[in-house]
Amino acid sequence: MFARRVMVVGTGYVGLTTGACLASLGHEVVCADIDTAKVERLRRGVVDIVEPGLSELVSEQTSAGRLSFVVGNSAALASFEEGRSPEVVFLCVPTPMGAGGVADLRAVESVMEEVGASLAPGTVVVNKSTVPVGTAERTAEMLERADIGVVSNPEFLREGSAVKDFLGPDRIVVGSDNQDAAERVAALYARLGAPTVLTDAASAELMKYAANCFLAMKLSYVNAMAELCERVGADIADVTEGIGYDRRIGQAFLSPGPGWGGSCLPKDTHALLQVADAADFEFRLLRATIDTNTRQRQRIVDKVRLAVTGKRTGSLSRVRLCLLGLTFKAGTDDLRDSPALAIAALLRQAGAELVGFDPAFVDGPEALKFRDGEPAPSEVEGVPLAADAVSAAQGAEAVLVLTEWAQFRSLDWSVMAAAMKRPIVVDTRNVVDPATLRRAGLTAVGLGRRTDFGEE
Ligand code: UGA
Repeated sequence: MFARRVMVVGTGYVGLTTGACLASLGHEVVCADIDTAKVERLRRGVVDIVEPGLSELVSEQTSAGRLSFVVGNSAALASFEEGRSPEVVFLCVPTPMGAGGVADLRAVESVMEEVGASLAPGTVVVNKSTVPVGTAERTAEMLERADIGVVSNPEFLREGSAVKDFLGPDRIVVGSDNQDAAERVAALYARLGAPTVLTDAASAELMKYAANCFLAMKLSYVNAMAELCERVGADIADVTEGIGYDRRIGQAFLSPGPGWGGSCLPKDTHALLQVADAADFEFRLLRATIDTNTRQRQRIVDKVRLAVTGKRTGSLSRVRLCLLGLTFKAGTDDLRDSPALAIAALLRQAGAELVGFDPAFVDGPEALKFRDGEPAPSEVEGVPLAADAVSAAQGAEAVLVLTEWAQFRSLDWSVMAAAMKRPIVVDTRNVVDPATLRRAGLTAVGLGRRTDFGEE
């Protein structure tokens, strides 16, 4: 394996994981960011995002001398010794989809303007972020340098397991119209021994959307199936287990929930719809995937309404509800496009009084170390936060479990029951054992479960 000299532009979620993981594979990595305070924190080993193993990896690779952080792209480029300029430059900057499916490539453009002319001949420029189809082509046009290859190398990291996903990928995708550049990027990952798909740039770019939209479709399908289970008296856990043994389907990504969210699936499904619209293709399946997800939030509110009032049209006005989990999934502090917050907003509109608890937002020894010493917030988007689950449940007419934190499963539910005004738990992730809830004197309402109809 040849260690390569790598520059990473942007130390956001993707850039930092890429930089630290490539360093751990033996490459010499310099990460550039315009945020001076952030670079200083990173040099001290302080990582602002919750990501298991990432801060350890950053500290380890920084101490090993393979990873460094520099303020500004020109300075980062200049930090490489004379004659040892970077062989590969990863662009990990925001590339949002603008109106009409057109890529907003201002961030890429400004990086290219700043350092494009100074890159050594033969350097490879890589787009790692999720980018609209055509970005590699446009990056090459901006560069105006035939001696530099542009490659699309989408990442498939999940928040909460980014380091594990990077170092144990299902596949590496490398797309370019320059074969030599593509092979050089693929070689960076050779030690991982993952299947590698070498393709053209547009296919690599589309592949990322195709993967995320397929995952979203899988989840909307499961959520719809859970609803059908309720109507016909079947159990979604058994149904998904049974279909999951079919290797063409697989067991992963089949858990019903309050709807899919986060910074990727919602954005990418809408982006692909725009791509389809721009290509004059009516992608009905994808539209239905999104609509099913939007409806899922209302469905949870309807479930709460029925559980609390006994009526489909009952009023939630002044009903106190406890929300366990506000982030878009467990294991992260990320609130972007969180289904829990969307449901909270609908409940508030219906007049409910909300108190939340989330293990991502607590102080003390249990706290996730992402705020660099700052205290936990006292509220999240208008939902006041309690310091623990029992305090949040005080006087509640129902507890809603909205993310799948393991802590929720092992809560002392009889203590929770004693704190609550009425004994109702709506578990939108099916994570807490219904029998445990029942033993604690609580009524369990989940998604698509036979046990909710009184059977064990
Ligand atoms: C997603 C993809 O899974 C990654 O492969 C991709 O690289 C990433 O987007 C990206 O484009 O950067 P992520 O946004 O971290 O990763 O979140 P997921 O773990 O995929 O979860 C997405 C949503 O689906 C969450 O709201 C989660 O709670 C929900 N979900 C997931 C379920 O409701 N059920 C499941 O079985 C799995």
